[in-house]
Amino acid sequence: MADLKHEDYPRANAYDADWLLAADMGPNPLWLLEDLAHELDLRPGQRVLDLGSGKGATAAFLAKEYGVQVWAADLWVDPTAAAANIAAQGVDGVVTLKAEAHTLPFAHGFFDAIVCVDAYEYFGTADNYLAYLIGFLKPGGQLGVATPAMTREIRDLGHIPEHIKKLVGWEAIAWHTADWWRFQWEITELVDVTAARLQPNGWADWLRWSRAVSEYRGERDGALDMLEADNGQFLTFAILAARKR
Ligand SMILES: C[S@@+](CC[C@H](N)C(=O)[O-])C[C@H]1O[C@@H](n2cnc3c(N)ncnc32)[C@H](O)[C@@H]1O
Repeated sequence: MADLKHEDYPRANAYDADWLLAADMGPNPLWLLEDLAHELDLRPGQRVLDLGSGKGATAAFLAKEYGVQVWAADLWVDPTAAAANIAAQGVDGVVTLKAEAHTLPFAHGFFDAIVCVDAYEYFGTADNYLAYLIGFLKPGGQLGVATPAMTREIRDLGHIPEHIKKLVGWEAIAWHTADWWRFQWEITELVDVTAARLQPNGWADWLRWSRAVSEYRGERDGALDMLEADNGQFLTFAILAARKR
């Protein structure tokens, strides 16, 4: 059985490794969320949107660990399957729904926080997206994002490194540096950026997860070649947090 115990993530350590690995859609969402949550002020009873929530691991974690009310919205995953996965953790009350990130079915100003783990890169890089999304936050509401990131901007490199292009193709242009995100958000003057940092262990954790997935499935995970070739040169995750003004 794959071991996901990690010295930096005591809360995530309490969750069943098989449950998490079966829900794999990318690097350990609970490690990412536990790190991201250090940058957020999550309090019991708050309304939190988990955007791009996938199979529901982060939604279960948010409800269980922080006592918040969670709406788990995702495009590709069937909400019934996500609800079953969340219920398997003994978590009740999470609303799962199918939603597209540009046409969200919520009232403006409804949420205390919006959290997005390994999904923002699919829809959040357009210049006008931040303004749209924070419309759903109360004033002072928090946005927290964990997203694949680069130590150098691809624009500055002038090309997508071959080992990344091989797996991700052009979509890697949505993987930015923490400084890129900070500027992108700060320039709007719509939010105060409270965190924009690269995870120092992001690549190592991603590799650790990819090896655990390989062991769990009995076959080599698709990301392993890319991560091994990278050797921590370019790839990591960015942890981003901001408050709506
Ligand atoms: C890599 S998966 C990560 C899922 C989950 N957050 C996790 O970490 O396990 C990316 C998720 O983003 C969601 N997604 C991609 N584009 C989306 C869009 N336009 N609107 C809503 N969700 C989207 C997909 O449905 C998918 O579940």
